[in-house]
Amino acid sequence: MKTYKPFAKQKKAHNSKALYVLYGGSIGSGKTAWLCNSAIMHAVKYPSARILLCRHQLVSFKRSTLQTLLEFLPSDLVRRHHKSEHYIQFRNGSKIFYSGLGSETGDLDKLKSSEYSLICIDQVEETTSAHFLMLVSRLRIHFKGYKNQLLATANPDSGWIRARWVDTRKPDHEFIQAVCAENIFLPAGYEERMRQVYPEDMARVLLDGDWDLIQDAASVFKYSDIERAMINEKASDKGPLCFGVDIARYGTSESVICKLAGSVCTFPDIFGKVSLMETAGKIVQAIDRNKEVKVKCDMVGLGAGTGDRCIELGYNIYEYRGSAKADDPKKFKNKRAQDYFNLASLLKTLKIPNDPKLRSEMVGMRYFILSDGLIQCESKDSMSKRGLPSPDRLDALVIACSGEGESEYSRDDRPFLVSLGIEYEPTKEELDRDENESWAQMGSGPTIIGSRDVVREALSEVRVKKYPNSGHSMGMAATKKKKSPRELHSE
Ligand SMILES: Nc1ncnc2c1ncn2[C@@H]1O[C@H](COP(=O)(O)OP(=O)(O)OP(=O)(O)O)[C@@H](O)[C@H]1O
Ligand SMILES: [Mg+2]
Repeated sequence: MKTYKPFAKQKKAHNSKALYVLYGGSIGSGKTAWLCNSAIMHAVKYPSARILLCRHQLVSFKRSTLQTLLEFLPSDLVRRHHKSEHYIQFRNGSKIFYSGLGSETGDLDKLKSSEYSLICIDQVEETTSAHFLMLVSRLRIHFKGYKNQLLATANPDSGWIRARWVDTRKPDHEFIQAVCAENIFLPAGYEERMRQVYPEDMARVLLDGDWDLIQDAASVFKYSDIERAMINEKASDKGPLCFGVDIARYGTSESVICKLAGSVCTFPDIFGKVSLMETAGKIVQAIDRNKEVKVKCDMVGLGAGTGDRCIELGYNIYEYRGSAKADDPKKFKNKRAQDYFNLASLLKTLKIPNDPKLRSEMVGMRYFILSDGLIQCESKDSMSKRGLPSPDRLDALVIACSGEGESEYSRDDRPFLVSLGIEYEPTKEELDRDENESWAQMGSGPTIIGSRDVVREALSEVRVKKYPNSGHSMGMAATKKKKSPRELHSE
C-alpha cells in the first residue's frame, strides 16, 4: 500500500470549498492520486457516505483509476470489494461505487437512479457535458457540516471543460492548475526524459499543464492568433463602420451586436432572453447611435422576424446567409465556413474584444473536411452537443468581418430580383413563411400589397438599383432608408 502525502497543490484542491472542483493540468501531476484520496477521505469522514468514482470508459477506469485507488486504500478500512457489482464497501458503511459513463448503458441507467454525497470524475475531458450535467443532478446526499462536491481531473483540453472551468469562472467552480514538476513522487529524471521526447509546444501542454497552448488539430483559430488579436494595440478604429448581428435562437443563447470600426471590433450590445421586438428595438437604437453604419444580420430562424421588424421601422438591414454558396465553392462548403477562415486570416490585423466567452468560443470552434473535400465549420448544434456554449459572440464577429461574397442585396431586394429573373434560392424557413404571404408584404413593408405575380408584374419594368457589392467598406448605410418599390417605380 502507498502512503498518500499530499503536496501543496493537492492540499489546495482538497481544501477547496467550491462545489465543482477541477484539478487539471499536466501528466503525472498527481491528479488521480488526489481524486482517489479525496474519495477515501470522504468515505472515512462520513460513515454511510455514497461516493461515485468514475471515468468515461470503464475499461480505462479499471486499468488506471481503480489501480491507483487500490494502491492507496488501506485494506483495514475495507469490508468488501464487490467486483461484479462495482463497489467497495467500507467498515463504517460508506461505499465507493465505480463506473464508466460513456459506453455501458446499464451502468448509466444505474447512475441515473442513484444519489451520491461525492462524485469524482477522472479525466473529465473524455466525457461529455451532458454526462456531467446528469451527474450534477445525482449529487444530493447531505452530511451535516459538509458540502456535496463534484471533483474532477483533466489534462489540458479545448473542449467544454475549458469553457466551464478555465476561461470563465462560474459561481461554485474552482480550477486548480496541476503541474508535474510539483509531484515529488515521480521517479527521478521523469520530467527531463519526457522533455527530450516531446516537441516544445507539446511539452508545455503535457508537462507544464499550459492550457493556453492547447490546439485541436481541427481548430479554426490558433490560440496564439486569438491572444494577439485581443491585445493588438496597433489596430486603428479609423475607417468604415459595420455591425454584425447574431440573434439568439434558443433560451440560453445571446443576441450579440458586434461593431467593426476600421480594424477594431467591440461588442456594444449583448443581451439574453428578450422578445424579438425588443431585440429589434435594441438593434435600431445601436444603429441610431452610430451614423452611417452598415448592418449585416443573420436572418435565419428567429432572426428573420427581428430583421423584418428593423426593415419595417425603416432601417436597411443586409441579410447574412451562412448557408449561401461560398465565393470559393471548390474549397468551402458554404459562406459560413469561408467567413470563419476569413476571420482567422484577419486576426493578424484586427483587434477583437478581450472577452473570456469569445476566447472559449474561438478555441472550441472546429472544422471538418467533408467527403467531397470541402471545408465545413462546426454548427452551433454540434458545438452544444459537445457541451460548448453556443458561439454567438463569435458568429457576430464573423458576420461583422465578412467582407467577400455577402448577399449583394438586402432582404427587401427580393421582389426586384424575382422580377429580373435573377436566381435567388430562398431558405426553407423563408419558403415556409412565404407560403401564405406575398413577397411584397414580406420584404418591403406595407407599400405594395399583392400576390407575388402582381408584384412581379409591377416591378417588371423597374430598373433595379443593385447595391454595391461586398466589403464592409461598401454598401448602403443602415441609417438611410431604402426607397420602396413603389417609389422607385414612380421615378
Ligand atoms: N501525494 C502523493 N503521495 C504519494 N504518491 C503520490 C502523490 N501524488 C501522486 N503520487 C504518485 O505520483 C505518480 C503520478 O500520480 P498520478 O497517477 O496521480 O498522476 P496523474 O496526474 O493522474 O497522471 P496521468 O496524467 O498519467 O493520469 C503515481 O505513482 C502516484 O502514486
Ligand atoms: Mg491520472
